[in-house]
Amino acid sequence: MILVTGGAGFIGSNFVLQWCAHNDEPVVNLDALTYAGNLTNLSALEGNDKHRFIKGNICDEALLASLFAEHRPRAVVHFAAESHVDRSITGPEAFVETNVVGTFRLLEAARAHWNGLQGAEKESFRFLHVSTDEVYGTLGLNDPAFTETTSYAPNSPYSASKAASDHLVRSYFHTYGMPVLTTNCSNNYGPFHFPEKLIPLMIVNALAGKSLPVYGDGQQIRDWLYVEDHCSGIRRVLEAGTFGETYNVGGWNEKANIDIVRTVCTLLDEMAPSADRMVVNEQTGKPVEHYAELITYVTDRPGHDRRYAIDARKIERELGWKPAETFETGIRKTVAWYLANQEWVKGVMDGSYRDWMAQQYENIRA
Ligand code: NAD
Ligand code: DAU
Repeated sequence: MILVTGGAGFIGSNFVLQWCAHNDEPVVNLDALTYAGNLTNLSALEGNDKHRFIKGNICDEALLASLFAEHRPRAVVHFAAESHVDRSITGPEAFVETNVVGTFRLLEAARAHWNGLQGAEKESFRFLHVSTDEVYGTLGLNDPAFTETTSYAPNSPYSASKAASDHLVRSYFHTYGMPVLTTNCSNNYGPFHFPEKLIPLMIVNALAGKSLPVYGDGQQIRDWLYVEDHCSGIRRVLEAGTFGETYNVGGWNEKANIDIVRTVCTLLDEMAPSADRMVVNEQTGKPVEHYAELITYVTDRPGHDRRYAIDARKIERELGWKPAETFETGIRKTVAWYLANQEWVKGVMDGSYRDWMAQQYENIRA
């Protein structure tokens, strides 16, 4: 089996769902169920023996030791993290705790497990660390995209904590020879994206007639990848990546934030016209004609990185991976998913997903 951490979050849950659809190998899913963890993302796996959920913290040494001893995973895929840059600015400590200390504890538990393996079991073991393009810092408009050899220059507490975790992972290869792999991916979007991040926030706010807050001048550039493509990239690196190497994962889709917001508005105008839904502007009390009317420029994020861009040639050249979705197909699917899954959105917005989780977790434990 494989051990996945953070498999109830946005990317982790997409990964677990994809894994169970493509592989016979079971998954043990360790997640602390912070505000970002949502077991309803995995409701399609209810009753599926291939998926076992364990509520727990990656900082818990004793729990990790018992998990490795009981399940003897042949691989670890490590998603668990505090992931929201804005939250890292208001409360950085949780980022150091989970992203740095948690990754360290997980590495230590994996190392103890790997040391105890022999022969083929030892040879097939691997630890894949899921990281971000933000560790490379920010780019000017004409700079070349980040490659795997770009120097680290993290600018937020989030990216600094991820950079620290990347360095720890790297050191376990160089010092202990542990079979580690690291992926550095660009901005993901798609189903189950928590609605405090840009794309789902814009969809949810627009449908509610709330303002669409664009930080600063909206000209910051991000490089967007459909989440299922990120998951297929991780599966490919897990399968065939070279130990000790890092792989940039990206979709060659650089877009300014304001263009993303306008695209979402245009798709909503087409797929969920405001007149049909009688959407009223929360600020003015007047009917909304076009969702783009709700765009509002707000104070910029402190230390806001101007541009990210991923050069994904290495993973394509060495492992033959390429994204399947274009931005146009992926964003259309995403908007359609949010429109079709209003109950999921409602559960997140009113917090009822947490009640459901409490009940579900009791069932899982029983
Ligand atoms: P997310 O915030 O949606 O999910 C994180 C998950 O980790 C949640 O289920 C949460 O409950 C769990 N978790 C948090 N702290 C934990 C702890 N101490 N112990 C156990 N579980 C814990 O994040 P995401 O967007 O799915 O990101 C997943 C990973 O991918 C992160 O490592 C992130 O840095 C990386 N990444 C994200 C993006 C992106 O665009 N979202 C891009 C590149 C890389
Ligand atoms: O680049 C990969 C990273 O992408 C991941 O490592 C992070 O975990 C993930 O959260 C994401 O970070 P960003 O900061 O890029 O994502 P976010 O959705 O918060 O913001 C995207 C851009 O949109 C960013 O430039 C800030 C801007 N923004 C965001 C919000 C929430 C706005 O203009 N308004 C908003 O309300």
